[in-house]
Amino acid sequence: MSAGEPRPADILDRLHHLRAADAPTHGGRVLSYVYDSGVTELDELADAAARLARPLNGLDPTVFPSIAAMERDVIGFARRMLHGRRSVVGTVTSGGTESCLLAVKSARDLWRAENPTDAARKRPRLVAPATAHAAFQKAAALFDLDFDPVPCAPDGSVDPAEIIGRMGNDVALVVVSAPSYPTGLLDPVGAVAPAAADRGIPCHVDACFGGFVLPWWPKLPAWDFRVRGVTSISADLHKFGYAPKGVSVLLHGGPQARRRRRAQFFATTRWAGYPVVNPTLLGSRSASPLAAAWAITQHLGDDGYAELTDAIRRAATAVRRAVHEIPGLAVLGDPVGPAIAVVADESVPSAHRVDPHRLADALTRRGWKIQHQPGFTQSDGVRILHSAHLTLTPALDDGIDEFTGALAAASDEVRGVPPADARALARVVTALGYGHGGRVPGPRAAWTLLRLAGAAKVSADAPLATLMALVELLPAPVAEALLSELLARLSDPR
Ligand SMILES: Cc1ncc(COP(=O)(O)O)c(C=O)c1O
Repeated sequence: MSAGEPRPADILDRLHHLRAADAPTHGGRVLSYVYDSGVTELDELADAAARLARPLNGLDPTVFPSIAAMERDVIGFARRMLHGRRSVVGTVTSGGTESCLLAVKSARDLWRAENPTDAARKRPRLVAPATAHAAFQKAAALFDLDFDPVPCAPDGSVDPAEIIGRMGNDVALVVVSAPSYPTGLLDPVGAVAPAAADRGIPCHVDACFGGFVLPWWPKLPAWDFRVRGVTSISADLHKFGYAPKGVSVLLHGGPQARRRRRAQFFATTRWAGYPVVNPTLLGSRSASPLAAAWAITQHLGDDGYAELTDAIRRAATAVRRAVHEIPGLAVLGDPVGPAIAVVADESVPSAHRVDPHRLADALTRRGWKIQHQPGFTQSDGVRILHSAHLTLTPALDDGIDEFTGALAAASDEVRGVPPADARALARVVTALGYGHGGRVPGPRAAWTLLRLAGAAKVSADAPLATLMALVELLPAPVAEALLSELLARLSDPR
């Protein structure tokens, strides 16, 4: 090291400085993205385990058998939690999206193998309620399936008959959520999965969000491997498993469990190097998130998760009660588990409504972050209202009175303020010809439009109501181009 190079301590100081601009990851003030158990000891255990496993490479568990041992334990824990039989097998992945991608890839490969004539002529379909996580659209795009979203009611609930009505020979996979992220609603797994099984169609339950909470939530209808026809389940350890980011499980059940899991794998001996067998999308893999998840599941066990789930339930009850008491604000649908979406109460005159995006911006000014969700008009024209999403964590339970107080005060501040109006901005975009005939702005034009919209500068405390209103108004490909450019520019070296 030469004298001119920065010292490790200076480098870490700089990182501390950079981290100061981040939204707080602990304390329950950010009600999305982060899943704080509120238990310091748990974070310390996860850090220590992650550090121990840091030099390993998950690429080859025959060289590093500790990885296979931890994986067996984690999959075994998840299997018991989800009432899977001994025939249920699984894989630890890098996160929810990867678990969902692999469930779809596996279903597609089996469909192709079982329908060779159809497969030569057409793409299979993936059927899911419109509220299913976007990871399934990504999977359909990457693995060449047609995504067939089933329209939901305005409150986000879905009629199982609508899903069942779409089950044809070309359906490779039906997906339901436990619960859905945007609404917190539990999809009708008990009606959909057996109907799929009767037609020979696999059914994936996406429990990425609720997988480590709903098993301890009382009085729920069965939604896991107890339901006939459920062939795979994804559950994220880096959400309510309380592990650091980078770890989820995908389990396969039913008569073809091993074949389904095998279809996720990529293996080749046809190159000049070592034989490659990848059970997931990545090659080299960090073992740190797995080790952290392993340590946490060992430490918490059933009782620990049950206790943390109780804290979430208390927070959920308190938040729902608070929203009920706030004039002009309402909970969307009847959520179960750790997510709630709030909307303007449309049963009262607009002068008394609380716009959820105005509310989210007002809460940001008060140091709390709830997540803006643009309204969504489905293929049948039915609109799911624009809302704000709240992920409720055990850490929130500790400061629940402060949060419900802030929710009430921020609602008072914005009650009667109309939703943000981005029509003038949208007119500029369309006047420039974007959105007509599928014309989408390229990187440079997208950046100019973002600057025009005043949305080119982002920060953890920026108001977002206008940007979200613009997203709602623009044709989806145009909005997607703008948002992609916004994110891409963030990592351009300065
Ligand atoms: C229901 C559901 N599925 C899938 C995902 C994707 O998970 P990840 O962000 O870990 O890739 C999420 C994330 O919030 C989710 O809530």
